[in-house]
Amino acid sequence: MDIFVFTIFPEMFEGPLNTSIMQKARERGLVSIQMVDYRLYAPSKHKNVDDSPYGGGAGMVIKPEPVYYALEDRLQGDYGKVLLMTPQGEKFSQEMAKELAGEERLSIICGHYEGFDERIRKLAHQEVSIGDYVLTGGEIPAVVIIDAVSRLIPGVLGEEESARFDSHYDGLLEHPQYTRPREFRGMSVPDVLLSGNHEEIRRWRRKESLRRTLLRRPDLLDRAKLCREDEVLVAEILNEERTEK
Ligand SMILES: C[S@@+](CC[C@H](N)C(=O)[O-])C[C@H]1O[C@@H](n2cnc3c(N)ncnc32)[C@H](O)[C@@H]1O
Repeated sequence: MDIFVFTIFPEMFEGPLNTSIMQKARERGLVSIQMVDYRLYAPSKHKNVDDSPYGGGAGMVIKPEPVYYALEDRLQGDYGKVLLMTPQGEKFSQEMAKELAGEERLSIICGHYEGFDERIRKLAHQEVSIGDYVLTGGEIPAVVIIDAVSRLIPGVLGEEESARFDSHYDGLLEHPQYTRPREFRGMSVPDVLLSGNHEEIRRWRRKESLRRTLLRRPDLLDRAKLCREDEVLVAEILNEERTEK
């Protein structure tokens, strides 16, 4: 996948996109990420990318020209899917990450300061928010999206399996995980995980995944597609939780 990020702070991406799994994915050519500093495309002598808002008011607004010129020059008409980072956009989710992972090219526009000129919206196929809070710029949201999307590209994660069982992948939270040691400060690993019985382990994990979702995020469970076995497990969980109280 080719990703182009349009930003005035390319240095904000250096750590997160040059470390660990993202670094390996880039080195192995699974994801190509290019930062484009749209300040370089500002037509004014002083390379101003922002100006005060028409009609008055606080803060500075990103001007349209640098963003339009940068996209036109770097993408040469092949825009791919253009995402605009804004707290007013559609809320980013695992579902959206899965859809975006199927794209060949993503172009991400990061705003900054008080926001961007309304005409910049015309460039975007989709406006995306990472949550109902306001950050100083679109760079951190862009990193969040690039990371979540890249790990779904085949080959990026060492074991294909690991994304499939993640929280939110199938609409549920992930089951609890344990590793060595078997005992730590009086807390022990559930016996079933040491049993070697794959069917029992699978069932336990599914049940605990359902339990977590039911107790922490019942809203997700309402929307999840449950099979017959899941319904039986949910009934068992409700029974167990009732007797616990
Ligand atoms: C300070 S914010 C501007 C917010 C703007 N005044 C508004 O109320 O919509 C500056 C930039 O950060 C980015 N940004 C801030 N919060 C975001 C969020 N939750 N999701 C995506 N982008 C965000 C956007 O690119 C935005 O243009």
